[in-house]
Amino acid sequence: MPGLVNAAAVELGASLMCADQGDLRRVVVDLDRAGIDFFHFDVMDGSFVRNFALGADQMRALRPATRRPFDAHLMVVHPERHIAAFAAAGADSITIHAEAAADLAVAVEAIRKTGRKAGAAINPATPVSVLAPAIRALDLVCVMTVEPGFAGQSFIESVLPKLDELAALIRSTGSRARIQVDGAVGLSRIPALLDRGASLLVGGTSAIFHAGATPADEVVRVRGALAAMAAVHP
Ligand code: DX5
Ligand code: ZN
Repeated sequence: MPGLVNAAAVELGASLMCADQGDLRRVVVDLDRAGIDFFHFDVMDGSFVRNFALGADQMRALRPATRRPFDAHLMVVHPERHIAAFAAAGADSITIHAEAAADLAVAVEAIRKTGRKAGAAINPATPVSVLAPAIRALDLVCVMTVEPGFAGQSFIESVLPKLDELAALIRSTGSRARIQVDGAVGLSRIPALLDRGASLLVGGTSAIFHAGATPADEVVRVRGALAAMAAVHP
């Protein structure tokens, strides 16, 4: 359904696992000034995915550096055990993987009880139908467009039809959930993702963090492109 999302309503997040890990505070301050909409924390436990990244301690340490939302993406086993820690560390939204939750609806309810926005993520091979029991309680659904675990992978095209299915599920259930896309979201892909209903974009190495430009300049560039899209397709 073309034009499902108004480009002006799209939010761009910075994936902090892709930033200079030795200088995260400066990155957060610079991107805040550049107009980033939210900060995306990829939390990896070396078990749900074969990599380690970010935890509640980093989130807590960075919380005073910005007032922009912190979005925790928990790629961990037993996500239920870690909801309270990320709520306390300053997360504004907490997303758990449907594949990792013992009972997705119960875990989503536990997030909502903390007062934070509740998210569920699905891997590229996971069907949208697993979200059905929780969809009305979700604030966001994170659709992985790469296998979770590592930055710099290629976009998995076969995920695109799932965005249409998800948009249909959201519409048919009256859910308020927004669609987030995570993984290889480069500028050239954004129009197609918006057309399919995505309104929360995670910017990693494909959009923000790469050689040849500062992350702040890239945020300004992507935000400028979104503004141009909004002008063409209001
Ligand atoms: C994978 C991560 C990445 C991350 C990096 O688990 O969640 O997708 O955002 O973005 P890219 O893919 O642009 O390097
Ligand atoms: Zn992520």
